[in-house]
Amino acid sequence: MPATEVLRAAALLRAGELVAFPTETVYGLGADASNPLAIARIFAAKGRPADHPLIVHLPGVSHLERWAIDIPEVAGKLAVAFWPGPLTLILKRHPAVPDAIAGGQDTVGLRVPNHPLALQLLREFDGGVAGPSANRFGRVSPTTAVHVREELGDAVSMILDGGPCTVGIESTILDLSGAEVRILRPGMLDAEAIAKVLGYSPEFGGTQNAPRVSGSLEAHYAPRTRLQLVAAADLAATARLALAAGRRIAVLARPPYTPDHPDITWCAASADPARFAHDLYASLRELDAAGRDLIIVAAPPDTEAWRAVNDRLRRAAAGSK
Ligand code: TXA
Ligand code: MG
Repeated sequence: MPATEVLRAAALLRAGELVAFPTETVYGLGADASNPLAIARIFAAKGRPADHPLIVHLPGVSHLERWAIDIPEVAGKLAVAFWPGPLTLILKRHPAVPDAIAGGQDTVGLRVPNHPLALQLLREFDGGVAGPSANRFGRVSPTTAVHVREELGDAVSMILDGGPCTVGIESTILDLSGAEVRILRPGMLDAEAIAKVLGYSPEFGGTQNAPRVSGSLEAHYAPRTRLQLVAAADLAATARLALAAGRRIAVLARPPYTPDHPDITWCAASADPARFAHDLYASLRELDAAGRDLIIVAAPPDTEAWRAVNDRLRRAAAGSK
């Protein structure tokens, strides 16, 4: 028997209300994915343009055929390998899927999240729950219930608190709707593990005709304070220059960095990519809240293990200008 709060959350979803829920990646802003009015509420609460499609969260792989058609065999293999987990599959959409979910496209994004409360909620609801990240459009995704409250306030009827998200950045998005599989958004799923299931390494990025992915917009995941991404070797000099120009700065950097000036507000980031990703959005929020003129981030190495983190940092820098 699910907890009372899960029963209440499912009832609210059935009534067309918004319920924020935890996943292993980030918190989602949930609504009944089969109810166009409920979906409209998501777009209003987030301030999200209507042509940006939403991911539908499912209780299990058995629900796939209610949402997608022409499902390639590889979708089943990926689902077996990675669901529940931080992987979203883009498939041809079932005619019954509301237009509003798809942002006018003939595809739909689907995933089974790996979080006990999310799974309880989805099973109890027994349907698809549309769930973009529970932040205002373009802003930093929330990884705790408190972040959701700060972002959306009373725009949500309920926030299910499942503690801090374990992964910390959004799911890997794989497009299976075209002739070749492509990674539209890198996440913390190991690209090698994906390649193993596929039998080859997919390309990153969409094709020219690829569906729109808001997470692939250049400017996204941005704090309000300007964020500058610099090579780790240039961090100290950049900080000194900014201080000399009278600017109050905040720094996010990996070891062995320690600030060499008392006026620097800083967050210690991890040298481990998974831990860095886990902490990233909470750290950006903390540095943002410090109200400095500039957040300087020391870029992690340009390697595969850091790809998803580097992707989010680059977009945060582009979005904060
Ligand atoms: O980890 C995640 O995926 C989180 C949690 C809550 O599940 N959700 C999330 O949703 O990041 P959102 O809406 O913030 O980002 C989903 C991305 C968007 O960039 C959207 O454009 C893309 O998925 N997307 C959704 N449906 C799509 C489709 N049919 N074709 C291409 N991109 C799609
Ligand atoms: Mg988002």
